[in-house]
Amino acid sequence: MSQKPILTTTAGNPVADNQNSLSAGPRGPLLLQDYHLIEKLAHQNRERIPERVVHAKGWGAHGTLTITNDITHYSKASVFSEVGRKTPVLARFSTVAGEMGAADAERDVRGFALKFYTEQGNWDVVGNNTPIFFIRDPLKFPDFIHTQKRHPKTNLRSSTAAWDFWSLSPESLHQVTMLMSDRGLPTDVRHINGYGSHTYSFINAASERFWVKFHFKTLQGHQHWTNDEAAAVVGRSRETTQEDLFYSIENGDFPKWRFCIQVMTEEQARNTRYNPFDLTKVWPHGEFPLIEVGILELNRNAENYFAEIEQAAFSPSNVVPGIGHSPDKMLQARVFSYADAHRYRLGTHYEALPVNAPKCPVHHYHKDGAMRFFANGQNPDAYYEPNSFGGPAQAAEYAEPALAIDGAADRYDHRDGNDDYSQPRALFQLFDEGQRQRLFANIAASMAGVPQFIIDRQLAHFDKVHPDYGNGVRSALAVGN
Ligand code: NDP
Ligand code: HEM
Repeated sequence: MSQKPILTTTAGNPVADNQNSLSAGPRGPLLLQDYHLIEKLAHQNRERIPERVVHAKGWGAHGTLTITNDITHYSKASVFSEVGRKTPVLARFSTVAGEMGAADAERDVRGFALKFYTEQGNWDVVGNNTPIFFIRDPLKFPDFIHTQKRHPKTNLRSSTAAWDFWSLSPESLHQVTMLMSDRGLPTDVRHINGYGSHTYSFINAASERFWVKFHFKTLQGHQHWTNDEAAAVVGRSRETTQEDLFYSIENGDFPKWRFCIQVMTEEQARNTRYNPFDLTKVWPHGEFPLIEVGILELNRNAENYFAEIEQAAFSPSNVVPGIGHSPDKMLQARVFSYADAHRYRLGTHYEALPVNAPKCPVHHYHKDGAMRFFANGQNPDAYYEPNSFGGPAQAAEYAEPALAIDGAADRYDHRDGNDDYSQPRALFQLFDEGQRQRLFANIAASMAGVPQFIIDRQLAHFDKVHPDYGNGVRSALAVGN
């Protein structure tokens, strides 16, 4: 018989009885001095943390990025330094609107968040399975998310709120078209692309800046469900994505993505007919072709889902030398928002949790607070900066080249003169007849119960994309009535 370890309290005191509470007589009542009972109940009350305010339902795994192409002329980031270089990665996929217990097979955007543990710190790409987004000004993000979450009185999701907001926000058309197309309901996350979506910057060793977009193209191919198929799937299991990802990896069938970039020079960015920092627009491949960078492979499941996936904290603020941000207003808001969310959701020292801790030395002067469990720096006298005791100091060689900015500070109307129709049209024209019919049917189904004046306002936008689009939705609505 193998020797079992002795059960202890969290303070390490051996536990004599884990079956029977301490009571006065066999019929009770219980005694307050039964600390083992109190500790068990108290710990259970603290087993949940706030779920993510968005993207609460998620699935994740560990993996590797392997560089296959030299892009050092664009970026000096160490992760790209040589062909063949491997960097450990953590991935978390998600739906956006559903709570933690939501069914997996729901029509929704899929989050595609990656943490690259580079030798110069963590680089996070917190993207989606769509290259664009519903809005272009972060001031509208809380409003948009309110339309996706529950109504304050009915406590139900509201199609009226969703279509009211979308029909009043034509910049959403591109993303709405993707969401309602086949790719809006993927069978799982192995069969989706990932996109950084925003424009980021690359900086090379000569301190030249390039604008860049990140693409992760699935090597498993695309697979989707129709609404009817998904309804049957949810009836069978609410956890189909978790099942698919976990068992694929467990069985050695490792999902892979081709990591590519699009690159734009600063000069080109001054001359595009659209704003290259507008998150509702793609850069057409014909003008900015994909350049391969590497292969992303997921090959290891978490041993402890809570510690490694639920406590993972991804943030667009995590960039490394050679990779930077851009003037995209949405990205700038996200640089603030995520770390703020993490401090609330996980606590002050969330970056020191094992899954978030960089796999390189970390030296900072942030001090105390809940769960401070990391050691002092080498010299405990160096706890402020500047100091005379050899504490960590800034290194000017990591400064980014200056970015020229002009313009008067004002609140500029982002809808003024912006073409919200051409790119949705290009997408609509990619769809074959079957895809179009499913798009129309999905939209009509989602509009059930929405007041006619909101539907009419939205139809006017579809008409402007393409007359066949508006008419197709009208016909589908007529069939549904
Ligand atoms: P291309 O013909 O060169 O590329 C079309 C792109 O559309 C491909 O990346 C393809 O992805 C993707 N696609 C196909 N079906 C869907 C769908 N149902 N939902 C979302 N994406 C889909 O055209 P352009 O680059 O000139 O772009 C035309 C339109 O394609 C854009 O307006 C945009 O809506 C869409 N698109 C463009 C992307 C870009 O970065 N340029 C990226 C994704 C979409 P895949 O290769 O995986 O099949
Ligand atoms: C999660 C804010 C736009 C992708 C989150 C979270 C917040 C947030 C607060 C929860 C973070 C956490 O608790 O860990 C915002 C704001 C946005 C915005 C303010 C716009 C201004 C976007 C866009 C994308 C995106 C454009 C994709 C391109 C994600 C993903 C997650 C997430 C993938 C889940 C990350 C994970 O798996 O932990 N967002 N978001 N968000 N967001 Fe956003």
